[in-house]
Amino acid sequence: MGFPEGFLWGGATAANQCEGGYDEAGRGLANVDVMPHGPERLRVAAGLRKMLSFESGFHYPAKVAIDMYHRYRHDIALFGEMGFKTYRLSIAWTRIFPNGDEEEPNEEGLAFYEKLFVECHRHGIEPLVTITHFDCPIHLIRKYGGWRSRQLIDFYKRLVSVLFERYRGLVRYWLTFNEINMILQLPFMGAGLVFDESENKLEAEARSIHNELVASAWATRIAHEVDSKNLVGCMIAAGSYYPYSCHPEDVRAAQVESQANYFFTDVQARGSYPAFAVKRLERDGIDVGMTDEDHQILAENTADFVSFSYYASRCAAGPDSDAMRIPGDFFGEVRNPYLKRSEWGWAIDPLGLRITLNDLYDRYQKPLFIVENGLGAKDRIEADGSILDDYRIDYLRQHIQAMRDAIDQDGVDLMGYTTWAPIDLISASTGEMSKRYGFIYVDRDDDGEGTLARSRKKSFEWYKRVIATNGEDLS
Ligand code: BG6
Repeated sequence: MGFPEGFLWGGATAANQCEGGYDEAGRGLANVDVMPHGPERLRVAAGLRKMLSFESGFHYPAKVAIDMYHRYRHDIALFGEMGFKTYRLSIAWTRIFPNGDEEEPNEEGLAFYEKLFVECHRHGIEPLVTITHFDCPIHLIRKYGGWRSRQLIDFYKRLVSVLFERYRGLVRYWLTFNEINMILQLPFMGAGLVFDESENKLEAEARSIHNELVASAWATRIAHEVDSKNLVGCMIAAGSYYPYSCHPEDVRAAQVESQANYFFTDVQARGSYPAFAVKRLERDGIDVGMTDEDHQILAENTADFVSFSYYASRCAAGPDSDAMRIPGDFFGEVRNPYLKRSEWGWAIDPLGLRITLNDLYDRYQKPLFIVENGLGAKDRIEADGSILDDYRIDYLRQHIQAMRDAIDQDGVDLMGYTTWAPIDLISASTGEMSKRYGFIYVDRDDDGEGTLARSRKKSFEWYKRVIATNGEDLS
């Protein structure tokens, strides 16, 4: 009973949210670099405001982030101290191919990650590598229009071939695209898309999605060819949709929303477009540019495991429902009246994690991996310098308990759990530092002030004990 032996406990970060060093060692500029802190950020991320370079009057937190580019040894040592079995991180595409379309990679970028992976292994930590975590080289956006263009499939194939060859023996767990379904909410972040007034937005999105799905299948194939030990996962922002009530219109609304999300993993884990998606494209008159080769590549190269982030469940209601709607909410626009919410308004629903695990396992029957889960909260430093983040411990405890129930009582096959994020870093949605997730505090504020010094929060010792007891001791 309990967590299986070899369960992969750890934490997850993304290059653009922690590395900094945005122009060092030949690195090129990416979409994620030019996303400012503040209210404009979401408009840029959604492709509604074009920002392809640094503009005056904005603070760009990714430039320095938490400076992990220079401090990774120290940070990985802290992860080692907590007993991490795995560390999920992402490669910055522009460190390897600064423009994205070069023939040859940038050796300095490759060497950086090699040193980082060696460091992980020195601490007994298995790297879990996201190939793209919301990043796309600016040059590929300017010249090709981002993932709209099929040419990006080739550039991505070149990128992954270099990574798999170079890190053979150092990395065996790979994720192709972070939260691939977030392209629907954040098309600039997800696919480097900025829309023209005259453009058919739906078609540009559908083509970009298709190109990413095909690229993902190619990556899976190349990974297996280079080393049969490689395991490649797909990754979505998950959280099951609940109908607001048992009114059939609400139930149908939840089903439609779920399908829009599952669509991605359906293709990546099953190998073909589900019927509802084919019909939807037909209805909308959209041609994604599927070739015979695409069909075959998708069918023959499904993901080895299904990974996902879980922060909250979502709720859906039919058009005539009196449900309270929250425009622009990330996790569905309907407020679930039964759930408490975080300081940032994200619903807190540990049982929803068990439900989501069951939904995904029922649907795919593939091993699952929770690669993000955590609570963004403001931390207070006590007079003696300590940070007593019991709220974070409570949140994680309840979610870990829920996943233990899913394993023990429902038989879900779960490979591991990486919290978002083991160390404070900049928020993807807001660019803030004050939305903190870490077991490790970083002295930096929303305006980029602070020493960047690291310190352990109360949750640090707690998570260390959880890992040491393989999830037995959650007290
Ligand atoms: C996920 C992303 O959407 O959620 C991460 O993969 C992100 O990059 C995390 O940081 C938490 O979101 P936020 O906006 O609180 O940073």
